[in-house]
Amino acid sequence: MSLTDRFNPAAQRMESSLVRELLHYAQQPDMLSLAGGLPDERHMPAFPEVSQVADSRQYGPSEGEGPLRAQIVELLAQRGLKISQPQVLITNGSQQGLDIVSRLLLDAQSVILTEEPTYLAAIQVFKLQGAQIVSVASDEQGMSIEALRAAIDTHQPKAVYLIPNFQNPAGHCYSRERREAIAQLLDEKNQLLIEDDPYRDLCYDPVDLTPITSLIQQAPWVYMGSFSKVLWPGLRTGYLASCEELRPYLVKIKQATDLHTNRLGQAMISQFLASGALPAHLQTLREVYREKRDIMAQALETHLGDLLQITVPKGGMFFWVQLPEGLSSRQVMEAALQRKLLVLPGTPFFAQPSEWDDRCLRLSFARVDRQDLQRAIQLLNQVIRSLLA
Ligand SMILES: Cc1ncc(COP(=O)(O)O)c(C=O)c1O
Repeated sequence: MSLTDRFNPAAQRMESSLVRELLHYAQQPDMLSLAGGLPDERHMPAFPEVSQVADSRQYGPSEGEGPLRAQIVELLAQRGLKISQPQVLITNGSQQGLDIVSRLLLDAQSVILTEEPTYLAAIQVFKLQGAQIVSVASDEQGMSIEALRAAIDTHQPKAVYLIPNFQNPAGHCYSRERREAIAQLLDEKNQLLIEDDPYRDLCYDPVDLTPITSLIQQAPWVYMGSFSKVLWPGLRTGYLASCEELRPYLVKIKQATDLHTNRLGQAMISQFLASGALPAHLQTLREVYREKRDIMAQALETHLGDLLQITVPKGGMFFWVQLPEGLSSRQVMEAALQRKLLVLPGTPFFAQPSEWDDRCLRLSFARVDRQDLQRAIQLLNQVIRSLLA
């Protein structure tokens, strides 16, 4: 028996994440990267002094630290989601929330519905459980109601996974009507919603941000949030809230997975929230990122407006652009690398082959400074025009 024959079938089929592989190019000093989903460290607050935060040396509870869980109850109430503290589970980033939920729900016989395209590391997690991912058509308002109804009836999925706010990668933000219609449909079908909401605070234009979860009357739900995009991703601290019925099962999986999330990271975040500095910090982030978004929008329009289909995202970190017919996103990535520019091809965001899977690029404006944003789009322009010549 070879070594890999010992692996479970889903692990045998596992592919590595293109983004994480590309990250090593991003670390080269002269490389300009629009590829990662990394926030700008120039706008990360300093850590609180260790001596100021709660003593974190001992093992802690699997559910997470009490003070932080109470603060999350408050944050979610401000978003219109009324829950009690036992419903909150602190996770090692919202990525672990995805993993825990997947372990609870999915196996090789399961179907999960997602937007098309969707977050590439969610695809990885769902596939690791062996589940079949069925993509449901989405437009700029969110997932199509007719397509969702048909997919639920056809596939009897275990869950529907949605990123309603400033979606990664497509950048769309669901309209209020679409949120309500989805909640209603999920209630009617008693279908489980996994709502993933890490980008909501990076909002640059007026939009509705009501969690779909808060509109659900009786269907089961999981809602996930993260401090990665607005504070310190290195602390790997996120959270998951769930309907009461799911809670004990999710906690058991957390226990089995890693006992509990790092206590020092939780204490740091709790201390920052308690200081009252979050609202002003978010305001600064919105101003900084809005300016960068506008610079990228302007540069794309000026240099590539005649060739690319460009939609300006109302929040988040990404432009999702459609390439001209005949160009492949992988080809563009390779040609851009020659010019020391890193862009992310759209392919890993598609769970199934589609006419668009190699026709889009995800361009992140969050971590690049103003001059470099201009330079990056000029380089992209040269790359695309030379490939078309
Ligand atoms: C949609 C989405 N969900 C979850 C995550 C994971 O975030 P975290 O750092 O909290 O694990 C990301 C990170 O890019 C994301 O884009």
